[in-house]
Amino acid sequence: AEGAGLAECVIAWQLQHGRHTLPWQQTRDPYRVWLSEIMLQQTQVSTVLDYYARFLARFPDVLALASAPLDDVLAQWSGLGYYSRARNLHRCAQAVVAQHGGRFPDGAAGLATLPGIGRSTAAAIAAFCHGERVAILDGNVKRVLTRVLGFDGDLAETRHEKQLWTLAESLLPQTGIETYTQGLMDLGATVCTTRQPRCDACPLTARCVAKTQGRPQAYPVKTRN
Ligand code: ADE
Repeated sequence: AEGAGLAECVIAWQLQHGRHTLPWQQTRDPYRVWLSEIMLQQTQVSTVLDYYARFLARFPDVLALASAPLDDVLAQWSGLGYYSRARNLHRCAQAVVAQHGGRFPDGAAGLATLPGIGRSTAAAIAAFCHGERVAILDGNVKRVLTRVLGFDGDLAETRHEKQLWTLAESLLPQTGIETYTQGLMDLGATVCTTRQPRCDACPLTARCVAKTQGRPQAYPVKTRN
């Protein structure tokens, strides 16, 4: 019941205030969407833009990436940090070529079997490319959902993490999964931030448990990692 109408609020906000013109939002090519999601995992949009364009100019498709020497991939990645992402990117491209005939699997479940693609990234790719109705739960989205719901289970515990995944699934809209998914990500990145959330600019403020309690920064609860 606490979630009733939440997806509609997120979708309406995203259509009005979210980002729509980023290069990876202009395509449903899984290669391009996958690359953007990996780059965006630990890097801000403004930084990713440059790297994304140069990377695609050098490696225009999954075959080009798979057949390139790892050192070339690492050189293109240079400056983005978290180099395990680049190694996994290369391994993943090689797996797509060797095990999937050069085509990314369509579904989130198949995508999540590939190197460097976790459950949330797989869901984002499947939602953006194919409109698959699946939940994402990255760091930004965990913050948004735990605050709105007042979910105070310790996310260091697997059972609470699972509970939050189940809640995230129960909140999914019947239609508009792409807009909803991007909306949750953008809310987490630009409004429902860790330190100084801009609750006055949030479409969920009226229904947010953490806001009602006057302590948005208390969420998410996580005792280690
Ligand atoms: N972080 C991860 N994926 C993202 C996306 N598609 N848009 C904005 N931030 C993101």
